[in-house]
Amino acid sequence: MKRKNILFILILCLPLVWGEPDFSKVIGMKKCSLCHAREFKVWGESVHSKSYKDMHKTDLSKQILKNLNLGKNAKREEKCQQCHYTVKETSPGKSRSIAGVSCERCHGPAKDWINIHFLNIEKSERYRKVEAAGMNRPGRLYQLGSQCYKCHTVADEGLIETGGHPTSDPSFNLLTWSQGTMRHTFLRDKGNNRPASPERRRVLYVVSQVLNLEYQLRGFAKATKKSNYATNKAVKLQKASAQVYKIYQKSKITEIKNVLKVIKGLGKLKLGQESKYLQAADEIYKWGNLFVEKYNGGEAPLATLDSMIPPESEYKGSAIGE
Ligand code: HEC
Ligand code: HEC
Ligand code: HEC
Ligand code: HEC
Repeated sequence: MKRKNILFILILCLPLVWGEPDFSKVIGMKKCSLCHAREFKVWGESVHSKSYKDMHKTDLSKQILKNLNLGKNAKREEKCQQCHYTVKETSPGKSRSIAGVSCERCHGPAKDWINIHFLNIEKSERYRKVEAAGMNRPGRLYQLGSQCYKCHTVADEGLIETGGHPTSDPSFNLLTWSQGTMRHTFLRDKGNNRPASPERRRVLYVVSQVLNLEYQLRGFAKATKKSNYATNKAVKLQKASAQVYKIYQKSKITEIKNVLKVIKGLGKLKLGQESKYLQAADEIYKWGNLFVEKYNGGEAPLATLDSMIPPESEYKGSAIGE
């Protein structure tokens, strides 16, 4: 292949992995509520929805904006919209925040997939089509879970060092934080909203640990100077590696071994190596997706991890409409 073509493909693929969501394709959660009324009700009770009413009014929010020399209203600032809001294009070239973190911030802007995802066609074909159209399906858990980590690792040196924004909550975990208040498993659970099955928990757990490693690395990659931010990310990265290593020791899964190889290949951590670290993170992303493809059912080798998996008492809040 010509070099020009390779470059073109790279540019095409990058936004899928790491770029901002395409807000011009957001249609709004009210459309989803027409068919997913129960999911919509659960979402309405969550912090993701409720913070829309008051986050921008808090003293901390105003202080952060001031420290960063931004406007007075977080809802209107691109920087804050990146993680706190769902933005919709209201007319060509004009867009505004319409909600907190709503359906499409996790499942992907829906314009191109909404009318395909419930069609009565062969499943594999439907999945292929909706994924190509930007839907983050539960079946592709690594891809879906990566949306959480993009926001929840707060990987932004300026926001934290200059803005005084809180650092990420170290207890964030895809398993424990998705199984509490925000849980919505009505579809697979035939109208109930019970906790994930033991098999599903294993997949959620492994994915959470690999994602944590990938995103702490992305966070460290962005550190430009010796600072609390850099130290915080380096410590979290080391802890994340140790955790993934334990998973490998118990399960001996090849994809996990390959994740560790990527980390080992980096040698001693240094500042100012952004492109090298981001490339390594892309490799981990690839192995994470392959892990899910192979072990989505939570079978055999994953059972060896059961003693490591956090119990229900650690879930973030209690589920709604169980
Ligand atoms: C016209 C009705 C309708 C609308 C509107 C709708 N959905 Fe769905 N959705 C469905 C049906 C039906 C299914 C189950 C499809 C199946 O059999 O797997 C589904 C399944 C899903 C799934 C699970 C897919 C999977 O692979 O397991 C997700 C996630 C989802 N919808 C999200 C959304 C979001 C987000 C919106 C709004 C942007 C939305 N839906 C709007 C009808 C709808
Ligand atoms: C990279 C993602 C990210 C960006 C960008 C971001 N935040 Fe946050 N913010 C978070 C997360 C995640 C939390 C929750 C902290 C936690 O529990 O880990 C949070 C918490 C907060 C809180 C404390 C919780 C509350 O509701 O009072 C305030 C205030 C806040 N952010 C304001 C802002 C403002 C203002 C901006 C824009 C200048 C901004 N944030 C940009 C991710 C982000
Ligand atoms: C677009 C960014 C974004 C995405 C994607 C996202 N979150 Fe959040 N989440 C936030 C922010 C910001 C807050 C804090 C809001 C506040 O306090 O004002 C938050 C809060 C939460 C809370 C409430 C915590 C508490 O204090 O009770 C839970 C639970 C949570 N997120 C879980 C998840 C999970 C699990 C995922 C992925 C499946 C996810 N989030 C995806 C930005 C995001
Ligand atoms: C903070 C991220 C986040 C938000 C916001 C969110 N979801 Fe989800 N959703 C998830 C995750 C993660 C799963 C998969 C959980 C799993 O597979 O164990 C999921 C699963 C689903 C499923 C499949 C459930 C099943 O039983 O298989 C549907 C349908 C769905 N979401 C619809 C919605 C709708 C509609 C909204 C908005 C009203 C919404 N989601 C908001 C993260 C989110």
